Amino acid sequence: MHRAHIKGLGHFLPPTEISNDHLSQYMDTNDAWIQERTGIQTRRWVEKGDGLSSASMGYEGAKMAIDHAGIEAAEIDHIVFATISPDYYFPGNGVLVQEMLGLDTVGATDVRNACSGFVYALGVANAFIQTGMYQNVLVIGAELQSPVLDLSNEGRNVSVIFGDGAGAAILSRAPEGHAGVQTVHLHSQGKHAKELSMQGPSAIHWLDEIEATHGDPAIFAPYMNGNFIFKNAVIRFMEVIQEALIATGKTPKDIDCLVPHQANLRIAQYIQGKMGLEDRQVYNNIQRYGNTTGASIPIALSEAVHSGAIKRGDTVCLAAFGAGFTWASSILEY
Ligand code: UT7
Repeated sequence: MHRAHIKGLGHFLPPTEISNDHLSQYMDTNDAWIQERTGIQTRRWVEKGDGLSSASMGYEGAKMAIDHAGIEAAEIDHIVFATISPDYYFPGNGVLVQEMLGLDTVGATDVRNACSGFVYALGVANAFIQTGMYQNVLVIGAELQSPVLDLSNEGRNVSVIFGDGAGAAILSRAPEGHAGVQTVHLHSQGKHAKELSMQGPSAIHWLDEIEATHGDPAIFAPYMNGNFIFKNAVIRFMEVIQEALIATGKTPKDIDCLVPHQANLRIAQYIQGKMGLEDRQVYNNIQRYGNTTGASIPIALSEAVHSGAIKRGDTVCLAAFGAGFTWASSILEY
């Protein structure tokens, strides 16, 4: 069996910064509440007219990852694209990026596991490489969430936390002696599907129903039972990290950098405290970008690597929890 490692990373954020104060124009909220409850100071939102989408932002992140990996786009054997905010209802974003990169007819797989999407996508790519089927897989996590947020008071617990952006990794067959991706653990629990969801547009809504209910935030805007999600998140994050540590025979001291899904700074701080990790062992950037769902881990990972916070040979732990519920972790040598 082959091993996979991360050969290159890239990310892209839309240019427009949206401050907490800016949000109080639309809804009854304020900077102090948002910072205290979430740690978020600002997020990036695509502006109408920017011409950006989850596919095009994913493409920008992919180009940076390809450069960083030192390969040609033509060396990519497959694309795995994780998003819950695709450009089309169908086909998925994978084929759109395949065309943007001019990748002849390589296969493209789409993953829609929300906040856990990137770790799920990494798991798919890792399995492709382990079996020897592919050498280089482009893994993307990208989201364009701002257009569907409910900016009224009813939607304020959701809309203040989410942001737009993209991150990408080139996962390649690891050189001899490189531990690469050591574990991937994936979980789900569909009984809580509605607790964090956007129900429409979907195929179970008949056309006349869509016309009658279009604009109804109960269907066409994301819903989140914040407290319930928070309580489940802290438990599942810990469980799935523990699972990875046991599988690799490691302890928290062996983790050079934990890159948690950037859901809420309080969740990351809770995990850090429970694991007894020092500040230098955890990478957070939710303060600047908000919660970018499937894009948050690859953006944070890419930033951490490009800023020198993560170096070659470091042991990195990725962990995520979100809609589904789904949760996932990976321990890898960068
Ligand atoms: O990434 C995928 C997974 N998602 C998550 O992990 C998110 C998990 N949940 C959370 O991060 C938190 O639950 C939130 C940040 C979403 C909300 O924080 P909270 O501490 O759980 O607040 P809450 O929903 O319990 O609301 C507390 C109060 C309420 O007012 P009352 O009923 O106490 O009068 C809310 O109406 O805060 C109010 N509130 C707000 N106030 C100002 C809710 N949203 C806002 C807001 N600004 N944006």
